Amino acid sequence: MTEELIHRPGLKNVVAAESKICFIDGERGVLRYRGYDIQELAEHSTFEETAYLLHYGELPTREQLERFSHELRAERALPGGALGVLKELPRESNPMDVLRTAVSALAHFDPEVQDDSEEANRRKSARLIARFPTILAAFHRLREGQDPIPPREDLSHAGNFLYMLSGEVPDELSARAFDVCLILHADHGFNASTFSARVTASTLSDIYSAITSAVGTLKGPLHGGANIRVLEMLKAIGSVERVREHVEGMLERGERIWGMGHRVYKTKDPRAYALEALIGKLAEVRGESPLYQIAREVEKVGTELLGEKGIYPNVDFYSAVVYDMLGIPHDLFTPIFAVSRVAGWTAHVLEQYQDNVLMRPRAQYTGPDRRAYVPLEQR
Ligand code: COA
Repeated sequence: MTEELIHRPGLKNVVAAESKICFIDGERGVLRYRGYDIQELAEHSTFEETAYLLHYGELPTREQLERFSHELRAERALPGGALGVLKELPRESNPMDVLRTAVSALAHFDPEVQDDSEEANRRKSARLIARFPTILAAFHRLREGQDPIPPREDLSHAGNFLYMLSGEVPDELSARAFDVCLILHADHGFNASTFSARVTASTLSDIYSAITSAVGTLKGPLHGGANIRVLEMLKAIGSVERVREHVEGMLERGERIWGMGHRVYKTKDPRAYALEALIGKLAEVRGESPLYQIAREVEKVGTELLGEKGIYPNVDFYSAVVYDMLGIPHDLFTPIFAVSRVAGWTAHVLEQYQDNVLMRPRAQYTGPDRRAYVPLEQR
């Protein structure tokens, strides 16, 4: 029996599996993790609690949160072998490439790598979440010619990352602002990198392979790589007065306005509002960000010119401004996205294993018809 083939380039609007993790209504700008609105989580939750929610489906009790946070804290340090791999990498490497290599390397130093039980996969997930910040901070220190700073167990996930990066314990506002960024980026349904992780998991490959696939997919500028492009764009524009001319020029040349447009949202991304609120709080203490003024104008002009097509700011648009205000090196913006999203990736991989169906679409063949083989001497 021949089954009907449906051709949907880019899998637009194709539902590939059921999932209980993340709900998105792209028309109304709604995002929920396990039923909780993202705005409420951004206001009241922490990254650790949100990661627990994504993994276990419920908000933790105080005791469950304590145990989970402790597990993350205890797993922060990198195995010596993995740190050795980081030390061998060229200092000028792209940090996303470093992260991809390091995640893959971690598998070799995990004694449970071959154990595919659910309990072992949960422990490996916690290890991955705990170690992403350590990898990035260690690489950043090494490329600056400094020794990596060992993680501190008395700091939160967000606070400890900022500490390992700069050597200074961050002030409360910075740590909280970064924590909120981590909450906002932690999951987003079947986005390209999560899908990639699930495709790998669907072959019953291991969780390190799945997360390595996801990191490689997040790197692209149409996905997580957009936040760096946003920053470069805002810097190239340079002043509010130059925005219209610059944006119009980009569109005339057929270029994309970075940080705008989304496969699912046809309205402003709810996370963009939350990030703007953070920018406001940071500005009260640190003063206005000139990049924010430029970004607001890009949003205004971009929406005027592209709003008809449903193109509005997405999460990467204002996250670039927040990270810049927090003093984070620009080429770490995309890896920081991964520091958060690894919570969602691992939750999705665990869900995929629980009710697995091999992900294997078809292609519409558009190559030549059957033809006779031509021997080499006759070509
Ligand atoms: N700037 C200018 N035009 C854009 C645009 C942008 N940021 N995003 C989409 N468009 C236009 C496309 O050129 C296309 O126009 P056309 O129909 O006249 O050819 C139309 O909108 C649809 O775009 P398409 O790429 O087919 O939609 P998609 O669903 O595949 O795109 C993105 C989603 C995210 C890839 C796209 O909006 C984009 O490239 N945005 C910029 C990169 C970015 O910020 N990515 C982070 C996403 S969180």
